[in-house]
Amino acid sequence: MARLTIKNVSKTFGTSFAVRDFSLDVEDGELVCLLGPSGSGKSTLLRMIGGFEQPSDGLILIDGKDVTRLPPEKRPTGMVFQSHALWTHMDVFNNIAFGLKLRRLPKAEIRERVENALALVGLADYGKRMTMQLSGGQQQRVALARSLVLEPKILLLDEPFASLDQHLRERLREEVRDIQQRVGITTLFVTHGQDEALALADRIVVMRDGGTEQIAPPDIVYREPQTEFVAGFIGSMNFVKTSIRGGVSQHPAFPLTVPIEDGDVVLAFRPEALSLQPSKTLSTAIVHRSIDFGTHKIVDIDLADGTRLKAMTAPDSNWVKGVGIEATASAFRAFRDNQLVYQSATSGERHHDLILA
Ligand SMILES: Nc1ncnc2c1ncn2[C@@H]1O[C@H](COP(=O)(O)OP(=O)(O)OP(=O)(O)O)[C@@H](O)[C@H]1O
Ligand SMILES: [Mg+2]
Repeated sequence: MARLTIKNVSKTFGTSFAVRDFSLDVEDGELVCLLGPSGSGKSTLLRMIGGFEQPSDGLILIDGKDVTRLPPEKRPTGMVFQSHALWTHMDVFNNIAFGLKLRRLPKAEIRERVENALALVGLADYGKRMTMQLSGGQQQRVALARSLVLEPKILLLDEPFASLDQHLRERLREEVRDIQQRVGITTLFVTHGQDEALALADRIVVMRDGGTEQIAPPDIVYREPQTEFVAGFIGSMNFVKTSIRGGVSQHPAFPLTVPIEDGDVVLAFRPEALSLQPSKTLSTAIVHRSIDFGTHKIVDIDLADGTRLKAMTAPDSNWVKGVGIEATASAFRAFRDNQLVYQSATSGERHHDLILA
């Protein structure tokens, strides 16, 4: 087990920043997910931790020791790359044994460690297979075993399951979580699947343009997003532009009390925090369509200004297209210039709800 410290790390390619002034402490045995859109700097950051890329600035420490300038083989890290490459001219056993042979370990020890690694990833009988004879998921597991066999103190996984179908990905990520907890390896896991991050992580780092938007446990990232970007990136979120005057939103459909300075804001609420009522007098929204998910329905509604919102309703609700309604938000937050400026109580928001939309 090991503690990882990243201090003010930046990486520039030419004049553009791939990673910008990034800092993070990862505890012993912790699993941290790096989550962010394509090009946000996740792989670059991971490659710098593994020693495959040099930071332009900043420090990387493992158990307090400066490793910033060490080559990969001198670091206690193991990396599974975004596009994993197994050696096709070797069988599974030799793929996994390769790193141990480089270290000139005794044959018997190599055999034992490779067999343990294969058992760990559920491929006990596959040592003699050529890698071409494996399914995509089995190949991913061999790549994982190849890193684990070196007994790294820190495991770096760069979207290891990205090319797999949903079902297999879910199974493998559960396995990674099990292995990671059994062995207690400090792990950084890159993904751009938010459900993957929510299911796996002790903490999530949301990245954007090489910088950090928020670092927090999954439920906090979901319920207390600190920026408009995070609010929109994790789970399903409705946004409504309005201006605040005298502590009240001027939006006709959402005249909410927002006790902050006058000015423009973006209001944000989850589908599960919106409830719909038949309008008594003047309707502020019109039902566009309703989709049945079995356990609940998602109702799309249109506001007069053209904004479309999603509301989650009970499975037996019956909102017909074209009907005028009113929507109320039981929980919301307000953002100004991407920053959170107000958050109401957020009861009623649950993060399993985000799978739906
Ligand atoms: N070797 C390189 N030379 C120049 N620019 C690079 C290099 N490697 C990465 N970049 C740039 O740095 C930025 C971050 O890239 P990176 O691969 O870290 O993103 P990512 O978050 O892993 O994206 P993805 O989700 O698509 O894998 C991108 O704009 C990319 O084009
Ligand atoms: Mg990447």
